[in-house]
Amino acid sequence: MDALANKFYFLATYGCQMNESDSERYAGQLEALGYHRTEEIDMADVVLLNTCCVRETAEGKILGKIGELKHIKARNPQLIIAVTGCMAQEWQDRLFQRAPHIDLVIGTHNIHKLIELLQERQHKSDHYLAADMTAPAFHELPTKRFQKFFAWVPIMNGCNKFCTYCIVPYVRGREVSRPVDEILREIKTIAAEGYKEITLLGQNVNSYGLDLKDDLDFSTLIQEIDRIDGIERVRYMTSHPKDMTFAMIDAIGASKKVVNHMHLPIQSGSDELLKRMNRGYTVAHYLELVDYARARIPDLVLTTDLIVGFPGETEEMFQDTLQLLQKVQYDMAYTFIYSPRTGTPAAKMDGQISAEEKSRRLQRLMDVQNVYSLARNEAMEQKTYEVIVEGPTKNDEHHWFGRTRGNKMIIWEDDGSVRIGDTVQVMVDKGQTWVLKGHLVH
Ligand code: SAH
Ligand code: SF4
Ligand code: F3S
Repeated sequence: MDALANKFYFLATYGCQMNESDSERYAGQLEALGYHRTEEIDMADVVLLNTCCVRETAEGKILGKIGELKHIKARNPQLIIAVTGCMAQEWQDRLFQRAPHIDLVIGTHNIHKLIELLQERQHKSDHYLAADMTAPAFHELPTKRFQKFFAWVPIMNGCNKFCTYCIVPYVRGREVSRPVDEILREIKTIAAEGYKEITLLGQNVNSYGLDLKDDLDFSTLIQEIDRIDGIERVRYMTSHPKDMTFAMIDAIGASKKVVNHMHLPIQSGSDELLKRMNRGYTVAHYLELVDYARARIPDLVLTTDLIVGFPGETEEMFQDTLQLLQKVQYDMAYTFIYSPRTGTPAAKMDGQISAEEKSRRLQRLMDVQNVYSLARNEAMEQKTYEVIVEGPTKNDEHHWFGRTRGNKMIIWEDDGSVRIGDTVQVMVDKGQTWVLKGHLVH
């Protein structure tokens, strides 16, 4: 161990919460070996980039970072560079051709291979690749959790939906549910360690259990988790409107711990485009789910994902999306410009839309949504909410923030009376588009 007492790793995570969670398992393995984390890349013995390839912008950013590492490696030839995650899975050994200074490329089903490959590389300078998608998606691995009161819990991995724009099914593989006893064991351990909030993760949490032999689904999983003492809040990401059932909404509504926030990506307000996207639902069905959820889950906070500029999107179809925003009145929407991904059907479709038009539509979409986000947040003024304290804001140590059960961020002036991880009551004074301002209620 002594030889490793001053060995350091630098870790950067791109993409979604699944990647955040995977990063904790990469870090767990390195720390079990005696490595310490550093934020200074020049101090590192191992640099690990856990990557995303969902849009071209994500990939471009990562390629830029990989380029920078060339100079760092030139200064420190002993440095071992590992590229992991979805882009590693997509590119595989082409990454070594593009950037020969990379040592290890590890795909999404091979997280458990890190230490083995690292040791081989320490023994012999060469390129090492592990990208076998037939390896199991889940391995029980040591986990270094980066947060103290909030924990990620993956419940499934992969996607069978094949939305025509999306690369995720190709880089994450088919849907695989994690065995329920493993999930419950992890949550019990987390609860005993003092974590207050967990987020159940999967590309498609509503498909949980469909591949398992026992009779479990997302509703029954929630009921099991509800019985575990200690955890205050259970979040879940991401739901798919095709697999979300009324029974699941009932289970969420009946649960004491599952929060009143639902992220339900719709992508477009046009039935024609939804069909071409292969989403598997209509706007009318989606609206039924929303009505049902709002009736069953008090004070529901509803968020979504939207894509503008999908091939063939006409001005009328785009207007349908704007109208949908008006109908649903989301609390918040993540809005994306369609990005063609090589190997997906949409990349070859007719009717690709110019970059300028896509940007214009994105701006129009955001302008409309911002009005509703502001209105939803203003409606919270003068009401008091339960908040778990996360700590000082980035720019001002005298202002602290935390999140409501509905996942709204509230900022207040610190008076020294609360600590990180406390569950407190905060009254909202002012609702803004992105954030709420309030004060502690003692
Ligand atoms: N499984 C989740 C989403 C995972 S990807 C779901 O289906 O809801 C997160 C979001 O990225 C998607 O909801 C979609 O809005 C966006 N996205 C995925 N592929 C994209 C692409 N090629 N171009 C633009 N946005 C994309
Ligand atoms: Fe991608 Fe669609 Fe699967 Fe979501 S459901 S990960 S958007 S293919
Ligand atoms: Fe990106 Fe992979 Fe997540 S492509 S969005 S990191 S599943």
